[in-house]
Amino acid sequence: MNNIEAKKVSESFTTFTELVMPNDTNPMNNLMGGNLLKWMDVVSGICAGKHARKVAVTAAVDNVSFSRPIKIGDVVTIDAQVTRAFHSSMEIFIEVYKENIRTNSGKIKCNEAYYTFVALDDDGRPTPVPEIIPETDDERHRYERALRRRELRLILGGRMKPEEATELKALFM
Ligand SMILES: CC(C)(COP(=O)(O)OP(=O)(O)OC[C@H]1O[C@@H](n2cnc3c(N)ncnc32)[C@H](O)[C@@H]1OP(=O)(O)O)[C@@H](O)C(=O)NCCC(=O)NCCS
Repeated sequence: MNNIEAKKVSESFTTFTELVMPNDTNPMNNLMGGNLLKWMDVVSGICAGKHARKVAVTAAVDNVSFSRPIKIGDVVTIDAQVTRAFHSSMEIFIEVYKENIRTNSGKIKCNEAYYTFVALDDDGRPTPVPEIIPETDDERHRYERALRRRELRLILGGRMKPEEATELKALFM
């Protein structure tokens, strides 16, 4: 808990739209994974920055799979929302959609991912962020599960011992 006023998820919801151009693609005319990761990083950084009203830096990116190719000429939409804020860190949920506007394909979901951002003060030190207020069922679901995901990524990042992971332990009790 801190004394900063909590904020709703909708207050920092961020969306981004881009047309896949030749320079964004690999020799198969598919969007390069690295370009998509960069766009996802930018969108989630804006979302985290809007929530914290501070500079926010990427601390971790959870597993991302590229199961559906995104083709040259497709329109990419990336939505980002804060699922939960901890002390100085925020978990951001990203959803990626592609759309072929010539064939009227509609939006097709391609990827999702969780990014972790840390808010920094003017001296570059981690600084507290507002808590998040989940309002919808989906927001509440992601908010509750965020503690487990946080423990898992801190363990994988060598920042927590498995025996300290109380939320994960509770899953198996
Ligand atoms: C992220 C960073 C600011 C953390 O700094 P630090 O000195 O380790 O600070 P702390 O140990 O106080 O941790 C601060 C917060 O970061 C979180 N954090 C740090 N590493 C993390 C990781 N790998 N995964 C998830 N959260 C992480 C901590 O859990 C803590 O969260 P909390 O305040 O909500 O509890 C620092 O590692 C950094 O500057 N990294 C580079 C960021 C960057 O440049 N990113 C762009 C890619 S190069």
